Amino acid sequence: MDLDDKNEFARDGELPAQAKTLWHGRFTGGPSESLLAYTVSLPYDQRMWRDDIAGSKAHVRGLERVGLLTAEERDSVLTALDQVAEEMDSSSFVFVDSDEDIHTAIERRVTELAGPAGGKLHTARSRNDQVATDLRLWCKRELRDVAIRLVEMQEALLEQALEAGDAYLPGYTHLQRAQPVLLSHHLMAHGWALGRDVSRLIDTVRRLDVSPLGAGALAGSSLPIDPVGNATDLGFAKAFDNSLDAVSDRDFVAEAVFDLALIGIHLSRIGEEWVLWTSGEFGFARLDDGYATGSSMLPQKKNPDIAELARGKSGRLIGNLTGLLATLKGLPMAYNRDLQEDKEPLFDSVEQVTLAVAALTGMIATATFNVEAMQAAADEETMAATDLAEYLVRHGMPFRDAHAVVGAHVQTCLAGGGALADLVAADARLGPDAAALVQPGVGVQMRTSRGAAGPDARDEQVESYRAMLSDEMHVIRDLASFG
Ligand code: ARG
Repeated sequence: MDLDDKNEFARDGELPAQAKTLWHGRFTGGPSESLLAYTVSLPYDQRMWRDDIAGSKAHVRGLERVGLLTAEERDSVLTALDQVAEEMDSSSFVFVDSDEDIHTAIERRVTELAGPAGGKLHTARSRNDQVATDLRLWCKRELRDVAIRLVEMQEALLEQALEAGDAYLPGYTHLQRAQPVLLSHHLMAHGWALGRDVSRLIDTVRRLDVSPLGAGALAGSSLPIDPVGNATDLGFAKAFDNSLDAVSDRDFVAEAVFDLALIGIHLSRIGEEWVLWTSGEFGFARLDDGYATGSSMLPQKKNPDIAELARGKSGRLIGNLTGLLATLKGLPMAYNRDLQEDKEPLFDSVEQVTLAVAALTGMIATATFNVEAMQAAADEETMAATDLAEYLVRHGMPFRDAHAVVGAHVQTCLAGGGALADLVAADARLGPDAAALVQPGVGVQMRTSRGAAGPDARDEQVESYRAMLSDEMHVIRDLASFG
């Protein structure tokens, strides 16, 4: 393309429709190709088209309520918006070069379809309050969807926990075997973390449930618009109180991206464990073929790629958060074009978390556990050391002394001086009752305190876990009713 020709053409003021900007009245020249290429956000903000149409419809109804549009004008713009929605839905909408973002594209098309009434759509509205409105509507729907998927993952963890019965494995600290824990207890531990993620998403949605529509470019309007009526029309809990804050606040995006980064970190921790559990060294779990990959060169391989990507992609989710925070830092009031950079990290984080949760849920739901290998690892004699010390405590010995007595037996045992059970049985302070604690499967039964890793505490935990799931579903349903 010959840029000089283009500029020559742009300067003569006769721009073809597709080169007309929303601000062409103030300009004699048209936009340069490099400006358009650099500033365009349409490729990614297209996904807000539903929200943009919903926002525009509410705005048009509001304009009619206050007498800025006649009922006929309102109806012809609403009809045009419906047609745009159909075109978007069927992918028949034709974008043109000057469609800088989804807001520009929809307004251009409405103007083509509705004639002069279309030209009134943007009355007392700016893309600044429009984009903030669209993005809040988008977040309400999408964050709720992420929450629903997380609940499904919590359910899959519970199902596997119930299936696992009283199977146990070593619990670890420092990745060194520490004390036996029920597999069900271990699986639910991840479910509780996801429960906090769900509640964080719900909090975020509640806090962002404020309509910015009517804030205009930054300062509101001299026209008698109705922001409160528009907020109600759009299903927001309230309207903004400060126009500058309304157009420049992206706390809600930062919060959402943080929530998603923390979900990503929880998924990464699950991923790391499954990489270990499915390794030859651990051999605790086997993946279903549908949730594992092979190697292009090594015929024997079965790889946990989902788990690895859950671990790997958490870095990108953290990057989305830190990048966005850096973008927001230091922006003066009110709208700055920098704010356009809020969308890609948000969209990417929602998409990546959604994909990860679905894949991990399937991986967990279809996996099988090698209970023998888990239990054999947990039955190592020295795993009973803490129970032996607690046996002495029950018989009156201060814990620090008990720790030393048992520690000495462990040292002798590890140095080849005999089986721990025999050493314990032969020690008058401990004896045969204590030696019984070293037998396979006994240790996990001893974990009886509230929230502990043994069967009785686990049964109570299952009840509170189920209560958490049902509370979550109620709250999510409530969110749906106001969205
Ligand atoms: N695409 C822009 C964004 O996402 C819309 C708002 C543009 N406003 C403006 N005054 N240039 O932020």
